[in-house]
Amino acid sequence: MLTSLLLFPALAACHGFISSPPMRTPGSSTTAACGPSIVGEITRDKTSHVEGLPELGAQDAGFDAAACNVWLCKGLQYGDNADHVQAWAPGQVVNLQVELTIPHAGAANVSLVDAARNEIIGAPLVAWPSGYADERAFYAGSTPADQTDFNVTIPEDLGDRCAEPGACVLQWWWYGTGAKQTYESCVDFTVTEA
Ligand SMILES: *[C@@H]1O[C@H](CO)[C@@H](O)[C@H](O)[C@H]1NC(C)=O
Ligand SMILES: *[C@@H]1O[C@H](CO)[C@@H](O)[C@H](O)[C@H]1NC(C)=O
Repeated sequence: MLTSLLLFPALAACHGFISSPPMRTPGSSTTAACGPSIVGEITRDKTSHVEGLPELGAQDAGFDAAACNVWLCKGLQYGDNADHVQAWAPGQVVNLQVELTIPHAGAANVSLVDAARNEIIGAPLVAWPSGYADERAFYAGSTPADQTDFNVTIPEDLGDRCAEPGACVLQWWWYGTGAKQTYESCVDFTVTEA
């Protein structure tokens, strides 16, 4: 009880994020595209939901709704994560770790996205159509391990589409049905033919 009282304030606003490999976080590139209000919100809570962001962005003259597409990586920009680009090969098995801090049962998936076209590439690498981050399982300590520690296989047919850093992004996407909130977390990568 004491422990949960102590932890609660720190976790109260948090829901989930990719903890490995390194996810996109806010920096000067995101500030330039999204303005300081969105950056302040994501800095305060790296797991904040998407739905509140457009209103926050609208407070700032610097908000550029096209460059800061909150529905892709919450608007976080490649430029702020350029030091953490993962180099993957076609067919490679990649381990992803998600930290869930507040549960909201819903659907989730992980997809590769062509960033310039804002287009999902092919089928999701993994999908949970329902039952993701279910409250009852979470508080019983029985969240299925494969919701937070899982492998995905990089497609073999990407060609050179994701060869340049920043061209594509891996996005983890979770919608909490009851909360009506969307959470996104993104990893930068390249895939080059062996
Ligand atoms: C991925 O999950 C989101 C949120 O549940 C959903 O809106 C989207 O349709 C899903 N995408 C695919 C390709 O299943
Ligand atoms: C992911 O793949 C690696 C290598 O094949 C394997 O050792 C590991 O157990 C897998 N992890 C999960 C969660 O399946």
